[in-house]
Amino acid sequence: MTSDAPVDARTGLSAARFGLYVHFPFCLSKCPYCDFASVAATEIPQERYTDALVAELEARLGSVPRGTVVDSVFIGGGTPSLWRPALAARFLEAVARRRPLAPACELTLEANPGAADAQRFGDYRAAGLNRLSIGVQSFEARTLKVLGRSHDGPSARRAADAAHRAGFDNLSLDFIYGVPGQTVEEVEADARSAVALGPTHLSAYALTLDRASLADDVPLAKALGRGDLTLLPDEVVLEMQRTVAGVYGEAGLARYEVSNYARPGLHSRHNALYWTSGEYLAVGVGATGTLVEGVRRRRYTNLRSPEAYLKAIEAHVSPEASHEDLSELELFEERVAMGLRLTTGVALEAVCRDFGQPFEPRAAVVLQLVARGLAVWQGERLALTQAGFDVHSAICARLM
Ligand SMILES: C[S@@+](CC[C@H](N)C(=O)[O-])C[C@H]1O[C@@H](n2cnc3c(N)ncnc32)[C@H](O)[C@@H]1O
Ligand code: SF4
Repeated sequence: MTSDAPVDARTGLSAARFGLYVHFPFCLSKCPYCDFASVAATEIPQERYTDALVAELEARLGSVPRGTVVDSVFIGGGTPSLWRPALAARFLEAVARRRPLAPACELTLEANPGAADAQRFGDYRAAGLNRLSIGVQSFEARTLKVLGRSHDGPSARRAADAAHRAGFDNLSLDFIYGVPGQTVEEVEADARSAVALGPTHLSAYALTLDRASLADDVPLAKALGRGDLTLLPDEVVLEMQRTVAGVYGEAGLARYEVSNYARPGLHSRHNALYWTSGEYLAVGVGATGTLVEGVRRRRYTNLRSPEAYLKAIEAHVSPEASHEDLSELELFEERVAMGLRLTTGVALEAVCRDFGQPFEPRAAVVLQLVARGLAVWQGERLALTQAGFDVHSAICARLM
């Protein structure tokens, strides 16, 4: 589908060259573990929000050269499958009028099983979207209850079926494991049910309730902080991860990134932009983009409150909450950390050269990692082994 995406020389992964991220922040309810820029909304300002996205797009494209081809569009959330399909279509037309979409452009929409039916999916397909990513999380009632999800296992299966019937051949499903009370057997059953639905891509994330979540009022993080909730032991979570990787791998969905698995050639070209430090414009509430402006790499993040964002756009003022020019050192560290998340690894010596960093002091660390079975050389690229992935952060810290 997107076979013309060029291969990133440093990681061996094919990635979009220029992508667009669109954030749709509205949900039917707020899940107690969620730290994303999302709000429960009884009434979604559909028209107003679409107009704001187009206005922001127009303003931001001022710094993007005219001939720039858009290789990928990712509409994430929140719950983008609550976006009225006619308005999503209007937005995509607005994009196509301003910059050319590549013939094989990957256009993804995130969907919730609770906001999914074949008619609606058919309308998204007609609007030009060609990839769906459904947030299943689990098929198991008790796990879904702990996660505070409003859908059940059968509705997740129906959503995947509706996606296929609507012509979404490129289908991704998201799962969470390591949920309090969950067993390895249940995670394995989820994984087997997932591959039975015929996806081209699967994401499986360990439940994360970090300290930053406490500030953002995430109820499960607060319960953890109070001691009312206990996470599963690390070794059980790792066993779950290995179980998932085994089941997916047997079904032909190979792991290509710490949390992502795909059929050959069908990894996410858009996410590959993030992992290969590519360029992406982002619009919408809480969205983060990285644009190349001359020799600068400018990263910005928009306001997280929908009302504050809408008011800023309507008053023709910047909707950014923050922005920074990334330093060479930050770019280097990001390139290495992201590259080591990939099973293809990263050409460490060449990346050191790219960013004017010495390789020699790091070579000694690499020797130790290889000797301890945490990393292997694949030609010029250094790739972490399964044991290495388990301690990814610690390894990155030693290489920085
Ligand atoms: C931003 S969410 C949006 C998708 C959609 N709204 C949903 O929740 O189904 C994308 C994915 O991130 C994952 N996710 C969100 N919060 C998480 C957390 N605290 N820990 C682990 N994974 C998480 C879920 O698998 C989810 O499908
Ligand atoms: S549906 Fe997704 S984005 Fe919305 S609150 Fe739940 S996890 Fe967060």
